[in-house]
Amino acid sequence: MTTTALSLTERAAWKSLEAHYEKIRDLHLRQLFADDPTRGERMAAEACSLYLDYSKNRVTHETLKLLVNLAEETGLRARIDAMFRGDKINLTEDRAVLHVALRAPKEASILVDGENVVPHVHAVLDKMTDFSTRVRSGDWKGHTGRRIRNVINIGIGGSDLGPVMAYEALKFYSDRALTFRFVSNVDDTDLAEATRDLDPAETLFVVASKTFTTLETMTNAHSARDWLLNGLGGDAVAVARHFVAVSTNAAKVAEFGIDTSNMFEFWDWVGGRYSMTSAIGLSTMLAIGSDHFYAMLDGFHQMDEHFRTAPFERNLPVLLGLLGIWYADFFATQTVAVLPYEQYLKRFPAYLQQLTMESNGKHVTLDGTRVGCDTGPIYWGEPGTNGQHSFYQLIHQGTRLIPCDFIAFGQSLNPLGRHHDMLLANVFAQSEALAFGKTLDQVRGEGTPDWLAPHRVFEGNRPSNTILAERLTPEMLGKLVALYEHSVFTQGAIWNIDSFDQWGVELGKVLAQRIIPELEDMPESEVKHDSSTNCLIRRYRKLKGTSR
Ligand code: F6P
Repeated sequence: MTTTALSLTERAAWKSLEAHYEKIRDLHLRQLFADDPTRGERMAAEACSLYLDYSKNRVTHETLKLLVNLAEETGLRARIDAMFRGDKINLTEDRAVLHVALRAPKEASILVDGENVVPHVHAVLDKMTDFSTRVRSGDWKGHTGRRIRNVINIGIGGSDLGPVMAYEALKFYSDRALTFRFVSNVDDTDLAEATRDLDPAETLFVVASKTFTTLETMTNAHSARDWLLNGLGGDAVAVARHFVAVSTNAAKVAEFGIDTSNMFEFWDWVGGRYSMTSAIGLSTMLAIGSDHFYAMLDGFHQMDEHFRTAPFERNLPVLLGLLGIWYADFFATQTVAVLPYEQYLKRFPAYLQQLTMESNGKHVTLDGTRVGCDTGPIYWGEPGTNGQHSFYQLIHQGTRLIPCDFIAFGQSLNPLGRHHDMLLANVFAQSEALAFGKTLDQVRGEGTPDWLAPHRVFEGNRPSNTILAERLTPEMLGKLVALYEHSVFTQGAIWNIDSFDQWGVELGKVLAQRIIPELEDMPESEVKHDSSTNCLIRRYRKLKGTSR
């Protein structure tokens, strides 16, 4: 058997990790820190002004060496090079994966099918800059001659989560004279609430959809157009001043009625969940201006370069990815909690859910055989300190092991007395409590009665990373997102899965298309699904009043 034919779990590096796991699985972080007083300093890495403390993980230096061996043996370096070179590494869709080209400097050259894509990227960025400057300055007028004061991004998945996360994350830098809303759900309420207090004459819709065929987005975009035309006297000419599109599909944009000169293009080598630095970021640029947007791109690019060039043992995304594999595949953990101690990052966990779970929620390898180990874990989280007063109980004392990523900044963007010290004291306290806990002896030593003592024991040995940076800026956001993008890449490469397709979302879409006419056009028709679905459809028909 050749080396390349080996499955992941047959590899020597994997087997060494299995044997190593048996040796260290019960080692306690208390012991590891006691044995090496410099652990906290040595098990840390810094790049692009991001500091990653990974010392509170259940690893030794040997573990890290073995994990790096795994990365090398599975060909991570070659996979990284292939992505940056523009190879079609998204095999099932026969596409290159080049979000890194979206933040490459003007003079760079990255070829797709023999053509340098970087000039195209910068041409679109120039067009976005021109447009957003005109809107922000009031030069771009609505149909009635009034300036734009409201921007509504209509999109879903990667065409929503990146824009809304970035808007929330960078609100501090945004133009507060403009109101931003994000509509994604096909639930009528989403659009109704987003528009209810706005004046159509001052509202711009950015219809963001890679394919321009997505049911939710197209439905919302049509209803938004109706809302606009109702408010502006029905003259369809108004659409041109109030609708712009972001898409790869010019034909569909034109079909919708948006002038393609008001379309901002991107390309099939940009995955939806990797698109926030493409024209999908138009709403972000409208909010924060082009200078801040370019600063964000620069942050992404710095992390891209770090990922491409740094040795694995000091490579932040590689380390984060490898630690994720260590827990998911050896400790059999099911989830990862992402806990930003920065209010502006409140949508970051939701953004990461699509990035990580749509990318690595795969059960077959690139050659179509079933994977031999668990792949992408479930990501979830909430900003601190709120989570401490709800779900942290389970992380501290529940029966499941939940690796945590704490994210914090040295400076608040809105300093208020003692708040920031208190916030940061909580981050450090949480990771300390998780790692070291409180023993039965300590609890008893505090005079706790015997019957109560077991309830007050913290086992500890619960792992976490802490990511610390100076302050949340556009540049820093870029670095942070790219850090996670590339840690997802690292894991996908080692699991040998296609992190860039999303076939798992298809079946539900197809079935919904089949059910829609059964609810709308043929309310009395016989339904031919399984008995549960049939029953639910009949009951819904009654509830909505179209059938007896
Ligand atoms: O259904 C999943 C998905 O294809 C995502 O991958 C994508 O981000 C989202 O839908 C939206 O797609 P589009 O930008 O084409 O509307």
